[in-house]
Amino acid sequence: MNMVKLLSPDFAIGKVLVAGRSILEIGALLAARPSTESIHLARLIMQVKPAHTMVRNQNLINLYRMVRYLNRSALPGAIVECGVWNGGSSAMMAAACRDTGVPRSFWLFDSFEGLPRPTENDNAIERDSYFEGWNKGSIENVERIFRKLELPLNHVHFVKGWFDQTIPVATVDQIALLHIDADWYESVSLVLNQLYDRITPGGYVVFDDYGYWEGCDRAAHDFLDSRGMPRAALHRVGSMGAYFQKPA
Ligand SMILES: C[S@@+](CC[C@H](N)C(=O)[O-])C[C@H]1O[C@@H](n2cnc3c(N)ncnc32)[C@H](O)[C@@H]1O
Repeated sequence: MNMVKLLSPDFAIGKVLVAGRSILEIGALLAARPSTESIHLARLIMQVKPAHTMVRNQNLINLYRMVRYLNRSALPGAIVECGVWNGGSSAMMAAACRDTGVPRSFWLFDSFEGLPRPTENDNAIERDSYFEGWNKGSIENVERIFRKLELPLNHVHFVKGWFDQTIPVATVDQIALLHIDADWYESVSLVLNQLYDRITPGGYVVFDDYGYWEGCDRAAHDFLDSRGMPRAALHRVGSMGAYFQKPA
């Protein structure tokens, strides 16, 4: 068993690490910015972690604030997440909708069978570390965290299956925020190529894995290059993660 496997949140040691890191980061957040907002965010994060999300606190907070900003700007469109696992990052975005009183449709795409195999567009370490069923979440767990946080499920569209089969035929037509948390080159590329044109001008694409899985970086760069957009359009979220805004 290699280290990447052991540290994955699919295993107990990975879960302990995610939880431990999260607690330290929550302490740092509250110490640096002791405010009602920080306390609210800390409480939300403690409810979603580690059982429902492996996304880092900074990225969860970024998603929450982006959705809140989009709601205050009244930018139309759905929230789409490709790579849901057990629903923690979806729930953070839904909590931002609840807190701003703006209901939005949520489209949640996932195989709920775990990750597909990485390809030659990903690195050797990813290919060597990959194991069948890695990051396998479930719709039941997503529903559980929505209910726990008292978030409405009636606007949530669960789309179970492999992206290449589900996304091209999905009927979501206007997207305000596209959160891509699917790790490998082929998945990230497919999502961008299929869904970018449905994003409302001024809306956002957010990558959870940018700066961590190189296949994700490559897919983001290839897409920006193909559309004639500068790579400098990408704004980093800490050491892992990035986003860009669709030009208005
Ligand atoms: C890192 S996890 C997502 C983490 C989640 N956002 C969270 O809050 O922790 C990646 C997810 O992407 C899904 N996934 C990746 N590539 C996919 C593909 N090509 N088709 C369907 N699902 C895919 C996996 O099933 C897995 O649940």
